[in-house]
Amino acid sequence: MENVRNLINITDLTLDEIDHLIEVADDIVANPTDYQDICRHKKLATLFFEPSTRTRLSFEAAMLELGGSVLGFSEAKSSSAAKGESVSDTVRTVGCYADIIAMRHPKEGAPIVAAQKTVVPIINGGDGGHFHPTQTLTDLLTIKRRKGRLNNLVVGLCGDLQFGRTVHSLIEAMLRYENVEFVLISPNELRVPEYIKEKMNEVGVKWTETTSLEEALPKLDILYMTRVQRERFFNQEDYIRLKDSYILDLAKLKLAKEDLSIMHPLPRVNEISVEVDDDPRADYFFQALCGKHVRMALILFLLGIK
Ligand code: NCD
Repeated sequence: MENVRNLINITDLTLDEIDHLIEVADDIVANPTDYQDICRHKKLATLFFEPSTRTRLSFEAAMLELGGSVLGFSEAKSSSAAKGESVSDTVRTVGCYADIIAMRHPKEGAPIVAAQKTVVPIINGGDGGHFHPTQTLTDLLTIKRRKGRLNNLVVGLCGDLQFGRTVHSLIEAMLRYENVEFVLISPNELRVPEYIKEKMNEVGVKWTETTSLEEALPKLDILYMTRVQRERFFNQEDYIRLKDSYILDLAKLKLAKEDLSIMHPLPRVNEISVEVDDDPRADYFFQALCGKHVRMALILFLLGIK
């Protein structure tokens, strides 16, 4: 078990390894035929105990484009979890059938428990309100492709910064690059958790908090919008009160830089009006495409193929 590499948190990868994944992702686009059979006879299992479109399907598409096969389930009720099986037993079993596992679970830390019991690499596809490292790889690749750099950036994160796991992982990743400044835009009730603020303070990265998207917009290089995470609320009234706190539309975008990159992990609910989709700064569907390329690179890396 010792030599198996997992991806539970984005900090499991060094910056050099992230650079390598970005390079391979670009090479996959440049030379697709070099990769089309590289995972022949390899199997990826996707164990999704929570809903997903992009993460699960981009993992599956990634493995299929590498010439491998996929198996798995897309909801807890179609697995033995419905009979009361522990995550750890499910994953240990699937480790007998697949070479690599991508999993998503509503409980924070579930992939850590899973990784203790398998001999195949485990990839965290999102654990509760905690982390989402492969979305972060997607985001980093998108930023690199759009901006040509991962340093010297003012990054605005807007929406549900408390429960948004994509935000937590992206901050943890980007605070390792030079001269990155974070502008945290959220309602007071949905601010970034303290443990993330402590991490930012430890490295001395510059960050500010505001409730106003309009105030933050003019200085941003990246605007990372997120939806309010309905499934993590204890009280639906709070969700209804907060869900439309921020809606990015063309009128607000007039305040932004001409080369702003608008990102969103998706799914979107109301936080970006559809009229923004045709603006050249809208990068969120391009971001979804980047997700497939970087997951191809990650599968190769964790399988020790490249
Ligand atoms: C995100 C997630 O699952 O955390 N979606 C995704 O993986 N692209 C964001 C979200 O659900 O809001």
